[in-house]
Amino acid sequence: MKNSKRPTTVQQIAEYAKVSLGTVSHVLNGTVSVSETRRKRVQDAIEALGYQRNQLARGLRRNSTTMLGMLIPDIGNPFFPGIVRGAEDIAYKHGYRLALCNTDDDADKEISYLNDLRSFLPAGLLIIPAVGSMLMKNIRHSDVITFVDRCPAGWDGDFVMADNEGGAYQAGRHLLELGHRRIAVITGPRHLGNVATRLAGFRRALAEANVKLDSGYIQEARFNTNSGYIAAIRLLQMLPRPTAIFASNDLLAAGALSAAHNLGMRCPEDISIVGFDDLEFVEHTAPPLTTVHQSGYQIGETACRILLERINDSTRPPVRAILPTEIKIRSSTMRPITPKKSTRAGADRFR
Ligand code: RIB
Repeated sequence: MKNSKRPTTVQQIAEYAKVSLGTVSHVLNGTVSVSETRRKRVQDAIEALGYQRNQLARGLRRNSTTMLGMLIPDIGNPFFPGIVRGAEDIAYKHGYRLALCNTDDDADKEISYLNDLRSFLPAGLLIIPAVGSMLMKNIRHSDVITFVDRCPAGWDGDFVMADNEGGAYQAGRHLLELGHRRIAVITGPRHLGNVATRLAGFRRALAEANVKLDSGYIQEARFNTNSGYIAAIRLLQMLPRPTAIFASNDLLAAGALSAAHNLGMRCPEDISIVGFDDLEFVEHTAPPLTTVHQSGYQIGETACRILLERINDSTRPPVRAILPTEIKIRSSTMRPITPKKSTRAGADRFR
């Protein structure tokens, strides 16, 4: 049955509570402090009359809402919820609401979500681009965007990411200082900006030590456990075998741990493994993973703060924030064990 009740208006609230329209507006928007008695009268009126704010009508009047859109590439990867949490805490604290869209690293889905979000008149957008993203060809001047974690080539606006190059450099230094020289890398999709900078940082560490990174020792994968497993199986069956693997995220590193185990190898005795992200579960892997810490939460809250500042002042110069990374040394890395010369057949099969 059609609800014939007309929506309650702010005017009706004011009359019912015997206060001014301005007082009702201040209570609804929290713009000015109102005495407790008058606040209670307004709240009681809202309750009694069943008042419901119409955000869409408000948005149409202002040609913008208090909604922020957020695009993330893979809700199944534990790294991204940390970013979302940081952003959502800041959004909520400042009276905004976050609409989250998972693009599944699908560039077409990403465009479709961008257009859908635009139709809701968001105040701004936080975007972690998908693999193969085509956003740069579809961004409009009217879009208020802060890119997060991955910055598309050619973007000269606001972005926030971790110091990927410096973090990977620390990973390389750590393995070199342990004495590793046959070091392999499992990268994420190499056209992603943060993947390229991690590889560059790692290469910088090896180059400083005059250690070659053999191209056969670089395996490209997608940022997930299964492709890390497949890449590690390939690397661990090479001769000579690498003594260490740097994986450019923790899911790839977890796949490498599983591959070593299934090949009958011990980590770190036969193979040292380093990851990137420092996800919560890697403290509990067997063995606990050495990895590079980047704070998803801090990335998210910083990005949302920058976006809200942009919403309030479109003229401010671009902010391009790089947050610190730090290697967390656990027990998945150790010095390489030089094999004892043995006459037993197959004894050196892992070397
Ligand atoms: O784990 C997912 C990876 O892709 C992270 O390292 C993060 O930087 C994202 O870009």
